[in-house]
Amino acid sequence: MSSAKPPFQTKILLYGRAALEQAAALIREGQAVAVPTETVYGLAADATSPEAVARIYAAKGRPSFNPLIVHIASMDMARRIARFSPLAEELAGRFWPGPLTLVLPLQEESGIASLVTAGLPTIALRYPHHGAMQALIRESDRPLAAPSANASGAISPRRAEHVMASLGGRIPLILDAGPTEHGLESTIVAPETGLIRLLRPGPVTAEMLTRIMKCPVIGAQGDKIEAPGQLLSHYAPSKRVRLNAKAARKGEYLIGFGDMPCDYNLSETGKLEEAAARLFDALHIADASTAKAIAVAPVPEEGLGVAINDRLKRAAA
Ligand code: TXA
Ligand code: MG
Repeated sequence: MSSAKPPFQTKILLYGRAALEQAAALIREGQAVAVPTETVYGLAADATSPEAVARIYAAKGRPSFNPLIVHIASMDMARRIARFSPLAEELAGRFWPGPLTLVLPLQEESGIASLVTAGLPTIALRYPHHGAMQALIRESDRPLAAPSANASGAISPRRAEHVMASLGGRIPLILDAGPTEHGLESTIVAPETGLIRLLRPGPVTAEMLTRIMKCPVIGAQGDKIEAPGQLLSHYAPSKRVRLNAKAARKGEYLIGFGDMPCDYNLSETGKLEEAAARLFDALHIADASTAKAIAVAPVPEEGLGVAINDRLKRAAA
């Protein structure tokens, strides 16, 4: 059977003035464009256009009940979209721009397409630190909805080549600015009265939030899933993944941590920042290897290790 011709000949352009102008023009036409952030590459589209947002879902093959994060590049833009409590203001003041997403009440006249929030009365907002994403928001002059730029259920992309492998033929353009800094999606929190609810662990850790905000941080762990799109299998490679592996069994590709024999080491010196940044690279390489299955060494459940283990549990689900 002959397969349908892909709708796009996907271009990869090195990030720079000319590439940025092309990307912004595509955004204004309602297309979805892949762009790096400091966490992972995002698939960005105009958050005020339902047709543009629908193209994100179509390209990713994503279940439509999954609400998306909206990226902004100024507090003015943020305040037009969401209502900020004093605690939310303080979180933004301390951590923006950066890898922290705030779930806030949606403004009535926000202009955001309801497909973005999946009809929820709240919205997930992020002010990214990365120059390419900031410039694209400013140049296209609109808030950008952007999930990670991979097909639904696949591994999040840290590099333009990862995006190409997953979405090639399904989107017109990938802006390439090299590997992303963190390699893990942003931390998601909901500020509530006198406390912060952690909905998705990420580069901004619970310890950092507690220390800097001096207020209780409670986990979504154990209680019901607070981020409705947090499907358990969200980060799944195509192969079986075994966790807490001390050594490889026959046919397994071993992803190690710390000083140990393995096929790919997340961090030989046991540094959690390095391990987080290399995690999705490791899963991509292991998935593409000839091994039948993937095994991953234990990673300590502290600091950034909480976010790493969260992604690993999803990869293994
Ligand atoms: O690092 C990141 O955050 C990346 C880069 C591209 O910025 N983006 C990203 O977006 O991971 P996305 O759309 O894949 O993440 C959406 C997550 C889902 O788990 C979803 O359930 C949650 O955010 N979310 C979105 N809106 C929400 C809301 N109103 N309430 C609770 N969770 C929400
Ligand atoms: Mg994702």
